[in-house]
Amino acid sequence: MAINYQELGLVNTRDMFKKAMAGKYAVPAYNFNNLEQLQAIINGCGQSGSPVILQVSSGARKYANPTLLRNMGKGAVEMARESGYTIPIALHLDHGDSLDLCISCIENGFSSVMIDGSHLPYEENIRLTKEVVDYAHKHEITVEGELGVLAGIEDDVVAAKSVYTQPDDVEDFVTKTGVDSLAISIGTSHGAFKFKPEQCSLNEKGLLVPPPLRFDILEEIEKRIPGFSIVLHGSSSVLPEYVDIINKNGGSLKAAVGIPEEQLRKAAKSAVCKINIDSDGRLVITAIIRKVLKEKPAEFDPRKYLGPARDELTRMIIKKNERVLGSAGKY
Ligand code: G3H
Ligand code: 13P
Ligand code: ZN
Repeated sequence: MAINYQELGLVNTRDMFKKAMAGKYAVPAYNFNNLEQLQAIINGCGQSGSPVILQVSSGARKYANPTLLRNMGKGAVEMARESGYTIPIALHLDHGDSLDLCISCIENGFSSVMIDGSHLPYEENIRLTKEVVDYAHKHEITVEGELGVLAGIEDDVVAAKSVYTQPDDVEDFVTKTGVDSLAISIGTSHGAFKFKPEQCSLNEKGLLVPPPLRFDILEEIEKRIPGFSIVLHGSSSVLPEYVDIINKNGGSLKAAVGIPEEQLRKAAKSAVCKINIDSDGRLVITAIIRKVLKEKPAEFDPRKYLGPARDELTRMIIKKNERVLGSAGKY
């Protein structure tokens, strides 16, 4: 039997984005696969008073089990309310690749879906995206589409180089598909290795500085579809403090580089209403688990290393909402 997201206490992204556009901030979309990540997202966003999009990839759904995941979403809302957090919470499918997957998520309580046809020829992207919109809107579900290709790993697809979104296409795409928001490619990239060292310059501390985001393309897009909600994928900053902890505690992440926080701050003040963050959360968890296990080699209670990892992730989320997204206190 189909479960409606409203019964779970979730909301779609419509009002969230309207307020984010007016208030010049971006709503965070944090990916989760397990209990500790979900606890950290709810507590981090609850404590900082930020609206939040709980984001689930098809891989996460396979990993966690769709039924368990829906109940985790429901439990997350109940936990938030019991903790006194009145923040709006959306449950969103990340990088959906078919109508069937979107329908399955909608029937399992998701309040928002992404249909990612960015790798398809333009007309096919329009056709698939419109099909999803037609189905989703009957159920008051919001839909994110994508135009342009991000470099890096996009689920199972590895794109060698980014194909920036063409401003000439965006008005036609959003009109023909009816999407509620549009993910664009302006130089962000998925994963912890967003740029090759040869694409970067070095700063005075010897750290790699990536090429700047293409704010000129973003501005051109804003002119073509004024007031329309834009989404940035691949927006982890790959925080050097956590990469350092990983490398000092037996890990080996060389030349990991992300999107500088000040550029994301600038984007959040524009029509960018949603910023996707997954890799930064993965790095925090891995860093703390490595550190605890190295310091306490006899420890074998998962709560003793997952607990500190979760607590550090909560702190990172609060900082991001306050200093980067600008979403803290905007519920
Ligand atoms: O954009 C992709 C997200 O980071 C999800 O990654 O497919 O490994 O769950 P995943
Ligand atoms: P990061 O890999 O930069 O965290 O991007 C996540 C993302 O875009 C999820 O869709
Ligand atoms: Zn993405």
